[in-house]
Amino acid sequence: MSKLNIKTNETMNFELTEEHLAVKEAARDFAQNVLKPGVIERDNKQEFPAEQIKQLAELGFMGMMVDPKYGGSGMDTLSYVLAMEEISKVDASTSVCMSVNNSLVCWGLEKFGNEEQKQKYLVPLATGEKIGAFCLSEPEAGSDATSQRTTAIDMGDHYLLNGTKNWITNGSSASIYLVIAQTDASLGHKGINALIIERGMEGFVVGAKEDKMGIRGSDTHTLLFNDVKVPKENRIGEDGFGFKFAMKVLSGGRIGIAAQALGIAAGAFELSTEYSKQRKAFGKEIYKHQAIAFKLADMATEIEAARLLVYKSALDKDAGRNYDQSSAMAKLYASKVAMEQTVEAVQIHGGYGFVKEYHVERLMRDAKITQIYEGTSEVQKIVISRGVLAS
Ligand code: CAA
Repeated sequence: MSKLNIKTNETMNFELTEEHLAVKEAARDFAQNVLKPGVIERDNKQEFPAEQIKQLAELGFMGMMVDPKYGGSGMDTLSYVLAMEEISKVDASTSVCMSVNNSLVCWGLEKFGNEEQKQKYLVPLATGEKIGAFCLSEPEAGSDATSQRTTAIDMGDHYLLNGTKNWITNGSSASIYLVIAQTDASLGHKGINALIIERGMEGFVVGAKEDKMGIRGSDTHTLLFNDVKVPKENRIGEDGFGFKFAMKVLSGGRIGIAAQALGIAAGAFELSTEYSKQRKAFGKEIYKHQAIAFKLADMATEIEAARLLVYKSALDKDAGRNYDQSSAMAKLYASKVAMEQTVEAVQIHGGYGFVKEYHVERLMRDAKITQIYEGTSEVQKIVISRGVLAS
């Protein structure tokens, strides 16, 4: 019988480096000391965290993975995930703004934009001087992203953009928008382009703000384009590259949202352990009752499993491996954990969990969107099943 030859796989390293720990610590410090004090009020008033985003930019967190030559921090995806997790423990409205700017807009421009576009648009976005938005969803094109109704008609030296985009994160706070639109419907997804639109272009109007269940501090808007003249030099990539651009950008974006979901769950867990050590019932702290201790054990296990999937997808991206599947798995699982475990956190808090002061009801409301945006859970399953069946 031949012997098994098992080699140590050096990539299976669960230790964070000192640099990673420093990023995590900086993000935690910012979340607990800067974001936490006003987060309930911002949620109540649906107030965008403008001042807090400026401070995040000063920390280098708005262009974390962008090359320093374009004004970014030059960090890896794992650092970004660690920061997203800590910030999302406290304020998912701030973290979604950060996530869209970092992993959809900055990454998309750095990876696929030309040098001129990078100098003009990426630099102010990476430094946080400006905020970006990613515009794909439409009234009739959510999960079915190829069915774009917004048109970008080729007029020679420019495109004429017409249509409506829905549920756009950073809708009114952004000044640079990446808009996906149909140029030639007969070509299907190969007739779609990605265009860079600037705030102030004639015919571009920021429409109504959504009154949302969760992430109420983020500004989600409808955008209207009425004969907007977009110069040809604002197209990203070759003619017809827009759909693939959107898909590639969303694969990375899903790592950010998975990290957000992880953070929401982990934040609810931290609050629940803290509360269960203070709150007494039947003569002892409630964590000493198995009913609560077992809930905390399940929460910790589920969150750790989600964390491993999220870190794995970040490491896949950093190592240059394909991460379409691992990011979809991370988002699918982490968002489920966020939803289920925030409900448990409210249960552990009892009546206190149902009032705003204790934070967990907000985390529960915020959790739901992680199963919807950047692809619903069903979309993640399409991506995963196609990958699994093809392999
Ligand atoms: N990378 C590169 N190319 C890709 C790709 C990827 N990750 N995924 C698909 N493609 C390519 C395919 O190879 C195919 O190209 P070819 O014809 O040349 O082979 C083309 O794109 C079309 O692909 P599919 O046939 O797979 O497309 P589909 O119509 O079946 O849709 C889908 C697949 C996965 C459901 C996709 O439509 C999708 O991801 N939908 C969800 C969209 C989404 O996530 N929206 C979120 C909006 S943004 C947001 O939420 C931001 C925010 O506010 C926070």
